[in-house]
Amino acid sequence: MANARRIFVVGGSGFVGRAICNTALARGWEVLSLSRHGAPNRSTIAQSNASANLAKDVQWIKGDALRPETFRDSLAGCDAVVHSVGVLMENGYKALVNIGNRGGSSRSSAATYESANRDTALCVAHVARETPGVKAFAYISASDAVPFLDPRYISTKREVERELLAHREQLRPILLRPGFMFSPDRPLTIPMAAGVEAFRTLFHRTPVGCVLKNTPFAKAATPALRRELVAEAIINAIANPQVSGILEIADIERIGKLHQ
Ligand SMILES: NC(=O)c1ccc[n+]([C@@H]2O[C@H](COP(=O)([O-])OP(=O)(O)OC[C@H]3O[C@@H](n4cnc5c(N)ncnc54)[C@H](OP(=O)(O)O)[C@@H]3O)[C@@H](O)[C@H]2O)c1
Repeated sequence: MANARRIFVVGGSGFVGRAICNTALARGWEVLSLSRHGAPNRSTIAQSNASANLAKDVQWIKGDALRPETFRDSLAGCDAVVHSVGVLMENGYKALVNIGNRGGSSRSSAATYESANRDTALCVAHVARETPGVKAFAYISASDAVPFLDPRYISTKREVERELLAHREQLRPILLRPGFMFSPDRPLTIPMAAGVEAFRTLFHRTPVGCVLKNTPFAKAATPALRRELVAEAIINAIANPQVSGILEIADIERIGKLHQ
């Protein structure tokens, strides 16, 4: 699908979604975003050229991924869908990581893992399969990188992966499994990513790794990724019809660097 020119980003106003929209716009693609609140708050995102373009060039659709009647018509004419909706914790941890952010989705909600991580994706994928012309579906899944997190975070994501793989003949699945993502757009993620890197050094280069390798803490040795690299990987993967299936962190890093 080298000629993909119109993408539908579910959650385009969110932390990862905004980078995906920016990357697609930079390639000259047409971008539609679906979210319950529509456009992100303009006073907070219009702080750079990229943000200003985002605010003006994305077609912001106000709707709910769980309610097909709010987005079915907008999907018509799109080549690909990117699903960038989900919660890491059900108790609104985002209010914390959004401190000082620029245009994040800081609104709290009563989303569960099942509704946010699984049902939104399954619902949009179902509509996408019924929509002529939609050829690829990129789902931001996750690696199992957070110790002691409720296992439903990952199990709901794996359910979606299985469902999308089962329908791969109808819709090319691009299933990304990043770990923690960071960006200056969400300032608190920068020291958090530095903490991940420091732990990785301890884990891989000192006896600490031997002590912790069979414990849940070993998960935290998963590399953090720059949000923009993940966005590049998504757009590159959509543009290349050969890319299909699960993309682990090493795949994301490789594919993200293909378009320089
Ligand atoms: N951030 C990370 O480090 C990280 C790491 C690994 C994986 N991921 C995955 O990446 C995805 C995106 O994460 P994020 O950090 O960008 O989240 P985020 O900042 O909370 O953004 C979520 C987006 O989804 C929208 N949304 C939520 N519920 C919706 C619904 N029912 N219908 C339509 N839109 C809806 C939100 O806007 P409204 O509130 O206006 O609807 C917002 O645009 C998630 O699946 C997450 O698990 C993130």
